[in-house]
Amino acid sequence: TTYKLFVLPGDGIGPEIMAEAEKIAAWLTSAGIVGFEIEQGLVGGAAYDVHGTAISDADMARAEAADAVLLAAVGGPKWDGVPYEVRPEAGLLRLRKDLALFANLRPAICYPALADASSLKREIIEGLDLMIVRELTGGVYFGEPKQIIDLGNGQKRAIDTQVYDTYEIERIGRVAFELARKRRNKVASSEKRNVMKSGVLWNEVITALHARDYPDVQLEHHLADSLGMQLVRRPKQFDVIVTDNLFGDMLSDVAAMLTGSLGMLPSASLGERNAKTGARKALYEPVHGSAPDIAGKGLANPIAMIGSLGMALRYSFDLNDVADRIDRAISGVLDKGLRTADIAGAGKETISTAQMGDAILAE
Ligand code: NAI
Ligand code: MG
Repeated sequence: TTYKLFVLPGDGIGPEIMAEAEKIAAWLTSAGIVGFEIEQGLVGGAAYDVHGTAISDADMARAEAADAVLLAAVGGPKWDGVPYEVRPEAGLLRLRKDLALFANLRPAICYPALADASSLKREIIEGLDLMIVRELTGGVYFGEPKQIIDLGNGQKRAIDTQVYDTYEIERIGRVAFELARKRRNKVASSEKRNVMKSGVLWNEVITALHARDYPDVQLEHHLADSLGMQLVRRPKQFDVIVTDNLFGDMLSDVAAMLTGSLGMLPSASLGERNAKTGARKALYEPVHGSAPDIAGKGLANPIAMIGSLGMALRYSFDLNDVADRIDRAISGVLDKGLRTADIAGAGKETISTAQMGDAILAE
């Protein structure tokens, strides 16, 4: 089998870190382990500079046709003044929308070698390995009405609306339960059923789905505020956490910070499975942005980008053994003490973006 990988390096450090992920993909192909056919496109400011839009229709069509899309990062001060509809982020938003990517997977992994980089005590986070599954296309970020009304007496009223339908909760629930089966078989579902109707329905739908199709998976329900507290107090109790768009946005950023460095965290965004082929549209990207402050200097950490390739192998191609090898290579390199500047600590020896990519490949 040959997998079509569409890569979008984007802006800032994007091209530097993508080059390292591509190095590994190319090696997997030349070693006969995974056949990749790689095409490159433009997104974000890089696309705006050439096409005047944050992603061209032609590149959008190539993204639709690919087996997986790998994106590095978009944005930067150079494009601060461009019109809102064609700002760099618009490219990412169009990809998410047109590919209907409703499930955002954000792992928070604490590598033992980096446990002291976190602001939390080593025993609280060492060996942490949890996955937040965030609903990405519904909820209060998209619900209507969404407006600011002038009340005429010097007062205004802002309205956002949280809307969730049964099918939206069910399909994100399925993603979480299926992931849990491949991990430690535990799901924590999170909402605010005590104060929100959408929380009541969320809880009901997840409970029913669990009883019907996933009774073998351990399920807990947590109020979102309480879960936030638990994440910081005792994060290792969690395996998979499933939650809505708003709570998922906040909780996944909190979880990210448990682990120390932004440069370490990959993510996946998945669409629905094709009923015939079982394949699904998917986009893989680091959690971090384009880091304009260090762009072009060979300082960027490529691990989140390489980890994103690993997630593509796992979630788009079911090549768990190859994904495991990438994860082990990352741990191995860290265990040897190799560090890019962002994870080195003051005064410690550091290596460049390309040296880190080479070290992971060698490992
Ligand atoms: P950022 O994530 O780009 O950078 C935050 C800090 O982390 C910076 O000090 C940066 O140098 C460092 N950092 C980030 N990734 C790193 C890596 N791989 N290796 C070493 N250090 C790393 O977030 P910031 O500064 O808020 O945004 C910069 C630009 O990125 C903005 O234009 C923003 O809109 C865009 N952005 C894009 C995202 C995306 O493409 N998904 C996500 C977040 C921000
Ligand atoms: Mg966020």
